[in-house]
Parts: sequence; C-alpha cells; structure tokens
Amino acid sequence: MIICHKKEELRQALDGLSGQNQSLGFVPTMGALHAGHLSLIKQGLLENTKMVVSIFVNPTQFDNVSDLEKYPRSLENDLELLKKLSNDIIVYAPSPDDIYGDDIASENFDFDGLEHQMEGKFRKGHFDGVGTIVKRLFEIVKPDVAYFGKKDFQQLRIIEKMVEKYHLPVKIIGCEIFRADDGLAMSSRNERLTESQREAVPFIYKILKTAKERFGTESAHEVTEWVVKQFGKQDLFALEYFTIADEATLESVKRKSKLKSYRAFIAVFVGDIRLIDNIALN
Ligand code: PAF
Repeated sequence: MIICHKKEELRQALDGLSGQNQSLGFVPTMGALHAGHLSLIKQGLLENTKMVVSIFVNPTQFDNVSDLEKYPRSLENDLELLKKLSNDIIVYAPSPDDIYGDDIASENFDFDGLEHQMEGKFRKGHFDGVGTIVKRLFEIVKPDVAYFGKKDFQQLRIIEKMVEKYHLPVKIIGCEIFRADDGLAMSSRNERLTESQREAVPFIYKILKTAKERFGTESAHEVTEWVVKQFGKQDLFALEYFTIADEATLESVKRKSKLKSYRAFIAVFVGDIRLIDNIALN
C-alpha cells in the first residue's frame, strides 16, 4: 500500500494510470475509519483499477473549535485497516499546509439553496468548507468515480450539485447507510459514546423507522410533532432538528405529493456528541 503525505507524491504514485480501461476510484474521509467507510472502499475496489482514500480532518468544515479538537484521529489504526483490505489502495493523508498553504479558509459556494437547509442552518459555513475541500481533493486526485455515504445525504446532494455546476469530470456514487446490527448508523463520532450512551442511541433509528411507518397515513407535520414528543420524554438526548424533506430540493414538506421522494432527517445531541441520520420514506 502506498502512503502519500504530499500531493506531488500522490501524483507520482498515480503517474501512468490513465488511458482507456483504467479507472481511478476515490473515497474522501476524515479518518477514524469504520465499517461504513470500508464498505465504500470495498465497492470502489470492485469497480475501479485503483483506489485513492484520503484521510484529512478538514478544519474549514467545522463551525466549532471544540468539535474540531475532539474529532477522533487514529491514522495508524486507519492505515492498518486499509492494509488489511487491499494493497491496491493509495492513501493520501496530507497536512493542512499541503491543501491550504498558509490560507486555511473556505471558498463561498452557491448550491442553489441546498446549503441553507438542515445542517446548513445549524452549522454555519459547514458546506462552504465541505465544498472547498472536496473540490480541492478532486483537483489533486483527479478521480473518475467518487463514493459518498447517504448518512450525510445533504452533503451527497451538495457534492452532486457542485459537480454539475462546475462541470467537474467525476462520477458521484451515493452508497447506502451502513448500520450496526442494532440500527445505529456508522459514524466516526460513535467512538466517543460512553457504554451507556452507546446502548441508548439505537433509539434514533427506531424513531426514524416508526416515523416512516406513520408517514404512510399521517402528514409531515403530524409525524414531526410525534417525533419531537418522543425526544421530549428522553433525558439523554437533545433533539436539534427533525424534518421531512423533498429529496431533490431538501426543502421541508408542506403537502405530500405522490410524485416526489421524501426523506426524514434528524440531528441529535447525546451529551456533547452530535449524531445525524436519515431514512427514505417512499
Ligand atoms: O464526510 C466526510 O467525512 C467529510 O465531510 C469529507 C467528505 C471527507 C470532506 O472532508
């Protein structure tokens, strides 16, 4: 397995990989790899000649310094996991300097309003940071295909929008949410849960599944009220938002239409750990 810390090293490692029948797959990550990341990488390995995995905790997408500081980092363990998976992986684990030079700042993006919903409302500047890093990584890695998990569904939609607006030559694949047996969506942040918090958090997916059932017969407003009430009864959780939105625009549903696809989105604090999840409703 090749490990590069600088973009020049990466370009050298990728030299010669071009031409017909050669395809470069890419999974960008912030490390603390878990089974969800590994499932994206496995899919990429099956579908491409070579895979690049980047590991970089991107400072510009954190709206909160303490969240950035507490974000789990485990490069050695990540490299071990990747080595076990395949020797054909090229890892790019840059320093902030290699990406940003001496100007650690985001570009400003217009994602046609997708950035103002949900995560965008609660994490100021988050999607400018995500757009900045993903665009730079695409420019550095030059992948043919890039894989993103649907757990960050809003991020996935925003990256698709960025690719479309900037005519970036990369195909985006959205991959299903990878869950633990008890339903908890895989996330690097899960590592920070205490044992008792870990036991309690499958509640989030349980509520999403019931919300989906209720959405068959109830309005989005009724389902939302029910969810808010369920979290109101729980001491361990602080619900930040629950919303039922149109998958295409990410705008909250006012009136259901049979022609549209809807998804329920949730963000919950468990202590100081913020978890997000979502479920397709129809
Ligand atoms: O989903 C993530 O882990 C990050 O937002 C990403 C896409 C790697 C950009 O830093």
